Amino acid sequence: MQNILLPLSYLIGSITFIIGLKMLSHPDSARKGNLVAAAGMVIAIFATIFLYHNENGEPLGNYLWIFAGLIIGTIVGTLAAKKVQMTAMPEMVSLFNGMGGACAMLISIIEFKHLTHGLDAEVMEESAGQFFTTIQTGMFITIVLGMIIGGVSFAGSIIAWGKLNGKIKDRSFNGQHIVNILLLLVIAALTVYMITFRPVTTITFFYAILAIALLYGVLFVLPIGGADMPVVISLLNSFTGVAAAFGGFLYNNPVMLTGGILVGSAGTILTILMCNAMNRSLKNVLIGSFGGNKAGGGAAGSKEQGHYKEISMNDTATLMAYAQKVVIIPGYGLAVAQAQHICHELEKTLEDKGVDVFYGIHPVAGRMPGHMNVLLAEADVPYEKLLEMEDANEQMSSANVVLILGANDVVNPAANEDPSSPIYGMPILEVEKAEHVIVNKRSMKPGYAGIENELFFRPKTSMLFGDAKKVLQDLVAELKGM
Ligand code: TAP
Repeated sequence: MQNILLPLSYLIGSITFIIGLKMLSHPDSARKGNLVAAAGMVIAIFATIFLYHNENGEPLGNYLWIFAGLIIGTIVGTLAAKKVQMTAMPEMVSLFNGMGGACAMLISIIEFKHLTHGLDAEVMEESAGQFFTTIQTGMFITIVLGMIIGGVSFAGSIIAWGKLNGKIKDRSFNGQHIVNILLLLVIAALTVYMITFRPVTTITFFYAILAIALLYGVLFVLPIGGADMPVVISLLNSFTGVAAAFGGFLYNNPVMLTGGILVGSAGTILTILMCNAMNRSLKNVLIGSFGGNKAGGGAAGSKEQGHYKEISMNDTATLMAYAQKVVIIPGYGLAVAQAQHICHELEKTLEDKGVDVFYGIHPVAGRMPGHMNVLLAEADVPYEKLLEMEDANEQMSSANVVLILGANDVVNPAANEDPSSPIYGMPILEVEKAEHVIVNKRSMKPGYAGIENELFFRPKTSMLFGDAKKVLQDLVAELKGM
């Protein structure tokens, strides 16, 4: 019976991962998808703890350690996830991803130690490396690759976490990219030599490769611009998936293998999608140093151009109340202000007055994939009101008012018009097709890319300064009083 139950649990786990991932692709089902995949993971974990027996028929044992780890991890993870602000989510994803990389790295170290257990240095010396030739090549490669990729992912994710919360500054030196490439070549050369020739000093080689992999992880992420951190985190996420898949090979564990492959491929696809949405190549992201150290830091020395006009709260309310169609463009500033609930209130107030209201969602609005969708879903905005960029652009020319709430780069016309702009070629929300454009932000400071936005100076545009939450509260009050 046990022979069937364990593989069956793993099969159920694998299927729930796939179904969960599929459900994540729509905001409507995303929460449930997360729960479905988590339930599959719980089944797989408990099946391993209670049903697994080794080739001698012995159960797993070590229950005290296992459950102590599980309980502490569950408490820390739950508290952290409950406490985290939506704007700090990329940081948390990065930290959790680093833990995944560390797990994969530790699995490899522990399995390598298992292989060499009981062999002291003298025995190794005497056997003149003979011992190492007995290690199966496939298993050795799996252990070493899991260690390298997990190590890079761990070190890189911790640096990304530090950069996003401002604890670590961008650091680069002349020729850093060349040093990074050299380090990669050294790792590859040492690994090939160690696996092919199995020298007496294989243990020293193993830990030297580990140290260089950790150093590479640090140096690889340090010079990358703060604005590109989400892309890097997604890339590191795919590394962790691949490292976990090696663990699956090592333990002949199908659910670990499936989970690792899914994370690896999903992370890779997400990385490519983000690069496409910004019209940048992965190479440019990795060596381009785009954006400041801290998210939303703004550019030093950017100068204002021309004149902009401001609009009063009363005029904004009047324009919107008498509009037939209003498109709201949410951006990072809406998330910072935590203005999603009052934004939903504005939408309902306008609809009560017979106005059609939609949201135009840019794929990289905010600071992580799906940021705006998750934020607005939290405020119960109906999903059918969230239009993807292409659909939103189709609605623009028939919109009377576009209200931009704390968004900047994703509506910057330079992306279409200025070949010298760093964001040139990035698809944008074409807000200027609408009759009136109202921009809410706190100042004339630039957004994430740190560049000027000419939209603010164009004839159709009016600025409505202030914190998004406060402005929306006043606007709703004004509309209700009309
Ligand atoms: P941004 O271009 O960063 O603009 C946000 C604007 O919000 C700022 O100009 C800021 O101006 C304003 N703001 C800040 N706090 C505010 C508040 N409390 N109330 C009102 N306004 C406030 O944001 P975006 O348009 O959403 O563009 C996203 C950027 O992130 C893009 O450059 C994108 O490439 C980058 N990025 C995103 C992702 C993903 S996956 N989402 C990944 C990598 C990079 P003030 O300071 O004047 O208020």
